[in-house]
Amino acid sequence: MSLPASAKIRNNGHYEIGGVDVADLARQYGTPLYVLDEVTLRNQCRAYVDSFHQAYPNSEIAFASKALCTLGVAKIASDEGLGFDVSSGGELFTVLKAGADPKKIYFHGNNKTLKEIEEGIKAKVGYFMVDNLAELQNIENLAAGLGQQVEIMIRINPGIEAHTHDFIQTGKIDSKFGVPLDMLDDFILQVKAMKQLKLVGFHSHIGSQILDITPFIEEVKLLLDLTLKHGTQVIGLGGGIGISYLPDQSAPQISDFAQKIGAILKGKTTAKLTLEPGRSIVGQAGVTLYTVGAVKKIPGIRTYAIVDGGMADNPRPILYEAQYEVFQATQALAQPAEVVTVAGRYCESGDMLVRDVKMPRLNVGDLLMVSCTGAYNYSMASNYNRVPRPAMVLVNQGGSKLLVKRESYEDLIRNDIF
Ligand SMILES: Cc1ncc(COP(=O)(O)O)c(C=O)c1O
Repeated sequence: MSLPASAKIRNNGHYEIGGVDVADLARQYGTPLYVLDEVTLRNQCRAYVDSFHQAYPNSEIAFASKALCTLGVAKIASDEGLGFDVSSGGELFTVLKAGADPKKIYFHGNNKTLKEIEEGIKAKVGYFMVDNLAELQNIENLAAGLGQQVEIMIRINPGIEAHTHDFIQTGKIDSKFGVPLDMLDDFILQVKAMKQLKLVGFHSHIGSQILDITPFIEEVKLLLDLTLKHGTQVIGLGGGIGISYLPDQSAPQISDFAQKIGAILKGKTTAKLTLEPGRSIVGQAGVTLYTVGAVKKIPGIRTYAIVDGGMADNPRPILYEAQYEVFQATQALAQPAEVVTVAGRYCESGDMLVRDVKMPRLNVGDLLMVSCTGAYNYSMASNYNRVPRPAMVLVNQGGSKLLVKRESYEDLIRNDIF
């Protein structure tokens, strides 16, 4: 099931999340609405921290803030003991504002600006993850100017192909990310020539939404070899495992993942293991509520249920054909009656949220709920067609509170000068 852990069906056929009827949420906050289940979010944080601590005690989990970066989410992750992967000055700013421990921040990105590098050095982030030589030189120069020593990890390109969509696969040889292995020795020589930088480890990230642990095993073995060869102290394994977006997908257990990784490292190194899961921390915690505004039947062709959101609040389907599960949120007990395509409101014919899915008969005004939208939805959202971005609420124990308020028209023109 792709719904949050606290999701339940009430006797009247309404879904509840965090003990709150989703119809009440829609009435109170409007739609589209991002809803985040605090229980799932905290459960996932704890599952990672506890499982890795058990499997390999010298481990540190950093939340990949690119998956969902808001003050409230960062506060919860920090409260659960997680550090952060940030890949921009904006993410760094947000997690620091939320009270993150700078020592547990891993500063990623394959083209950090000089300003961002300076911000990272001044904030004394734990690690700079270095992707290329130009960046290496920039960090050295800025660190020298600020009179600071900086610990770096080299992001390698391990040449490992993971079974996921091409656009979210990052570890194959032809990739814009990381230092190819056959260029690594030269890269390390350059690092050693830098006065302000200390090489403390190697990092790689083979991709996202990976449902098979095997490529991670290959990856950790490679990182272990590099660690032993160069006597470094930190192993960065990149993002976490994939999640079950659809009923026929089966995601690995975090505990099994941790055991298998820990078993490779245990007894062979004392280096710290770090991991930056994003999707598997927040993905399943989130659902998005939409209202059906029109039902368009094209006889013999298709029935479209057109909702009040779409590609601007969830660009993943149009970007890389990501698939989602959708529910009639107030008729959970009704039998499926027709095949519909849930279409968005935006001016692109590819703006479809879920294609050809069996649903109870849908009517204008119905409330739909798309599951597993906690990761890479709000963080990738846009104002396409000048539509204000939706609000996000946190639900728990029968209560709800705003994490992010709905944008207004005034927000849309905030930066327009003329
Ligand atoms: C370098 C890096 N680390 C971590 C992540 C998070 O991956 P995931 O959300 O699959 O856990 C990503 C996402 O693409 C990434 O690029």
